[in-house]
Amino acid sequence: MPAAYVAADGIKGGEVYSEWFRASSGGRPNGYPDYALTVGTEFSRCKTCHGWDGLGSAGSYANRTGQSTGTATRPDVAPTNLRSVAAGATHQELFDAIIRPSGRFMNSPDSRHPDYTAFLTDAQVWNLVKFMREEWINSNDLYEMTIVGAPMHYEWNGTAWVRVSPTISYANIGKNGNATAGNALYTARCAVCHGANGKMITVDGAAFAGIGGFLRAKPHEAWFKIKFGQPPTMLPGLVTSTTEMRDLYKAIADNVAFPD
Ligand code: HEC
Ligand code: HEC
Repeated sequence: MPAAYVAADGIKGGEVYSEWFRASSGGRPNGYPDYALTVGTEFSRCKTCHGWDGLGSAGSYANRTGQSTGTATRPDVAPTNLRSVAAGATHQELFDAIIRPSGRFMNSPDSRHPDYTAFLTDAQVWNLVKFMREEWINSNDLYEMTIVGAPMHYEWNGTAWVRVSPTISYANIGKNGNATAGNALYTARCAVCHGANGKMITVDGAAFAGIGGFLRAKPHEAWFKIKFGQPPTMLPGLVTSTTEMRDLYKAIADNVAFPD
């Protein structure tokens, strides 16, 4: 096992996966503007192409638009299953696949994996490798996801090309969790900022009045933010144990205690 891998921090790796240009492990505190990048941030965030769950277009991002399906400012979601890649590749193979000197020029706004050599430090890439191997939560531990239909694409209906999307539904959010333990954890670590019922501040750019509505609508994203943070407002590492995350999910899934 490479020494750099042993020394790496998988929690900080998750933060990089979300927003490398704002991550607390970064040596460039002003983030994205420092790079003089002309391409939008969405073209450089791991999560945009690979999904919070790492399943790409076979997971929770199966119905997300990208360049070829209607949203020009965002790349297409990759078909790659990074979860199985992480399980089957060596540490060095993952490092090389991520940093990728042969990758696309960052300022070219398309769906290929970028060349990160000028943007991520080696330590950050090792953090990413450790995140992928050790810290990614298997979404089946927290909820059930059902996807009906193929990933978003266009079909010819005889007269015109129409966009066809799969239907994604989530069930049993917080399965195998303990609500009592989750509520105690919430009171101890979250209520100070989010309030007793989760609605003290709005989240997701004010799209949700509180975290109850957010977690029930986006169970594929909430755990990622809770575990790996939302720089610069929410620090990484608030909850790192999967057992605790299950309990928290069980508690927050309750729409009486945590209303929309
Ligand atoms: C603009 C979209 C895009 C971004 C951003 C992106 N990737 Fe990728 N990535 C891809 C695509 C498409 C593939 C599959 C084809 C390939 O390997 O080039 C891929 C492949 C990979 C692979 C290799 C998979 C295999 O089959 O061996 C790894 C590992 C990976 N990405 C991790 C990451 C990480 C970590 C980040 C963020 C630092 C990231 N990617 C950012 C599009 C992207
Ligand atoms: C130091 C204050 C603070 C603490 C402690 C905190 N949060 Fe947050 N959290 C925030 C802020 C601020 C946002 C809004 C970020 C935004 O909208 O960009 C946020 C956003 C969120 C989101 C939505 C993420 C998104 O994409 O908008 C969830 C879910 C969440 N918090 C859950 C939790 C849980 C669960 C805990 C306890 C384990 C917790 N937070 C602890 C400050 C905090």
